[in-house]
Order: sequence, then structure tokens, then C-alpha cells
Amino acid sequence: MAKQVVSPRVRGFVCITAHPEGCAAHVREQIAYVKSRPTMKNGPKNVLVIGSSTGYGLASRISAAFGAGANTFGVYFERPSANNKPASAGWYNTAAFEAEAKKAGLYAASVNGDAFSGELKTQVIEQLKKEMPQIDLVVYSLAAPRRTDPVTGEVYKSVLKTVGEPFVSKNLNTDQKLVNEATIEPANEEEVTATVKVMGGEDWKLWIDALDEAGLLAEGCQSVAYSYIGPSLTWPIYKDGSIGQAKKDLYAKAKEIDAILKIKRGRAFVSVNKALVTQASSAIPVVPLYISILFKVMKAKGLHEGCVEQIQRLFETQMYNDNALNYDENGLVRIDDWEMREDVQKEVFEIWPKVSTENLLELTDFNGYQTDFLKLFGFGVDGVDYAAEVEVEVPIG
Ligand code: NAI
Repeated sequence: MAKQVVSPRVRGFVCITAHPEGCAAHVREQIAYVKSRPTMKNGPKNVLVIGSSTGYGLASRISAAFGAGANTFGVYFERPSANNKPASAGWYNTAAFEAEAKKAGLYAASVNGDAFSGELKTQVIEQLKKEMPQIDLVVYSLAAPRRTDPVTGEVYKSVLKTVGEPFVSKNLNTDQKLVNEATIEPANEEEVTATVKVMGGEDWKLWIDALDEAGLLAEGCQSVAYSYIGPSLTWPIYKDGSIGQAKKDLYAKAKEIDAILKIKRGRAFVSVNKALVTQASSAIPVVPLYISILFKVMKAKGLHEGCVEQIQRLFETQMYNDNALNYDENGLVRIDDWEMREDVQKEVFEIWPKVSTENLLELTDFNGYQTDFLKLFGFGVDGVDYAAEVEVEVPIG
């Protein structure tokens, strides 16, 4: 037993501690939102979420389970508590999710490990064969810094850089609350290749092939992975940068996977989601400043959504609404439509050149950014007594 008071310890764009009860309360908030929506009648029944412990993957798991009564199986890479240190946020999120799912009479199980490895795929498939043998939705929501190639053993590291020219941009140092200028250097060819290896679609396709071969994909099975496009001021670092090249590969693999699922009268696609504060997005230069401005504008217009509202809307109004997918001209499904609305982007563009360290809190919703950031780690959640000692060793399942 390891009871202690847990406080946030922020280092750059990560927080190295997480609060077990705060994470659980945050998960329950998301569940409550989904439950406040009408039950999806034709929703998914048996769902595999790869990258299920935080951000968009966790939101997908919550929407499937509590919005449609689905059985869910999660795959994630999280750190359990050791030597009296708190576990990672995704560990506590998963423990809380699975406890709530079981209370609601829903099957929920998971595996913690490297989703890129062949061994883990085999382990998951063996368990699925016994416990959830017909999957009708596979959500692929990994955001990872590195990948070991399962065949060659080579380790690839993804980078967040431009392609071609360096990019000089206004930027926000979220730790020091400083608006400054950042120069982002271009990735070399090797770095672009590595980023595509990690964040492209190769591993998504390997998962689908393995699941298909094991006979686990149900008639009508769907599969979705997530991407981001955003406005031109972030394109050099995102859409046209090294991560953007990986996303292009993801779009190409979506087509290949779609062809496999079509045989079962299913489909695969990429959904382009809204920019939100997650552990993955806080590491991207320039993006936190854009998000702080965007939140200000979207909140004023009553259009703001978090991960769970985004995914719930994707499920409810598109994926499980008489197949009404909102494809764009490039074959991508868009749920970033409110972010990209002309009036929203016009206001963001007007604020962008005016922001400085001095007026940051006035012109942007940096407070909202920080609140969301700390909430990712279970801090600042309503109803949690942060002065009390809490048990940091929390079992999953
Ligand atoms: P996140 O950092 O919150 O979640 C990443 C998930 O991947 C976690 O569950 C983590 O445990 C898991 N993971 C990482 N490495 C793993 C490994 N080797 N094996 C097993 N699991 C592993 O990230 P977020 O932001 O939810 O990103 C998910 C997807 O959504 C990404 O494709 C991202 O590009 C996309 N997206 C994110 C947006 C944002 O603003 N955050 C916007 C639009 C798309």
C-alpha cells in the first residue's frame, strides 16, 4: 500500500505525476456526458481500441461503451505504480473506465504493452478469440514517439519537424507562459521515413490483417484512425511537416484496409478531428498557441468540444447514423467542421498577430489550455480532495 498526497510535477510539456482519483473523476465526467446523449440504437457492439487509455482513443472507448452498450477491449502502453510513485494517467484512466464498465454490466478488458510488436498482437488475438470473437469496430488511435519494426527489429523515432524549409513562427512556451518565436528545422529524409514508420498506417494495416486472418472481424466491421489538418498557420509544422507525411501514409493505408473490409460489407476511413489538448498535441511546437486562441473563439461561440464530445458526435451523427459519413473531396471524414468554420478561423487569424506574453490571458484561453492540460493528469477536477492522501497502487480489471 502506498498512500500519499499527489501533486502535479510539470516538466516542459509533460506532467510526471498523475492523480488516481482525479483521473477517475475525469473519466466519470466523460461517461456522464455520453450518458446524457441519446443511446445509439445501431451503435457498435464489440469494439477494439488500439491506444485506448488517453485522448481520442479513451473517448472512443467511452462513447462505444456508454453510448451504445458495447463490449470493449483496450490496448495501451502505460506505466503502473512502482516504488511508491504514481502510475501514469492512462493507467488510472483505464482502471476507472473498466471499473465503471463492469458496474454497468459491460465486458471490458485490456492489455498493456507495445501495440507495434507481433507478440502483443498475438496475445491480444488469443484473448479476443476466447472473449470477444466478433469485432465490429476497430479504432486505431496510437500516438507514439517510437516504433520497433516487428520484422527487422530496427527502432524508428518520429520527429515533429517541417519538410523542406525551416519554419519561423510565433510560439507559446506553455511552461513559462511566454509568447516567443520558434524556429523549427526541417527533417532530413531519414527522419521523415522514421516518422512515417511510427505514425503512418503500416501498423494499422498489420492489425487488420492479423485480426482478419484470425477470423475476428464481423460482417459490416468498421475501422477508423484519426488525423488533423487545421489552418494554414500550422501547416508547415503539421499538415506539410513530418507528421503530415505520416498522415498521408495513413490515408493510403485506409484505402487498402477499406478494400479488405468492403468484402465484409464494412469500411475503413480516417476521421479528421479537432485540435485538442492531449499528451500528444502538447508536444507539438506552435499548436498550443493556436489551441489557446481557438478555444477562446469557439467557447465564445458556444462551439467548444473536448475529445469525448468530438467522438460522440462522430459516432452519433455520422458512423452510426444511417451511414451518413461526411467525406470531403479527399475521402476524409470531417468532424473538425466547427473548428474550420470560416467565422471561427477568421477570428483566430485576427487574434494571432496581436498575441504577446503581456496580453496572453486576455486574448487567448490559455487558462482553459492549462486547465485541460492538468486535467489530463487528473489535477483540477471538481469534487476531488487534493490535500488528502490517496492510494497510488490501483489495479486494472
Ligand atoms: P494520446 O497521447 O492522448 O493517446 C495515445 C494513445 O496511444 C495512448 O492510449 C497510449 O497509451 C497509446 N500508445 C502510445 N504508444 C503505444 C504503444 N507503443 N503501444 C500501445 N499503445 C501505445 O494521443 P491523442 O492526441 O489522442 O492522439 C490519438 C490520435 O488522434 C493520433 O493519431 C493523433 O494524430 C490524432 N489526433 C489528435 C489530435 C489532437 O489535437 N490531440 C487532433 C486530431 C487527431
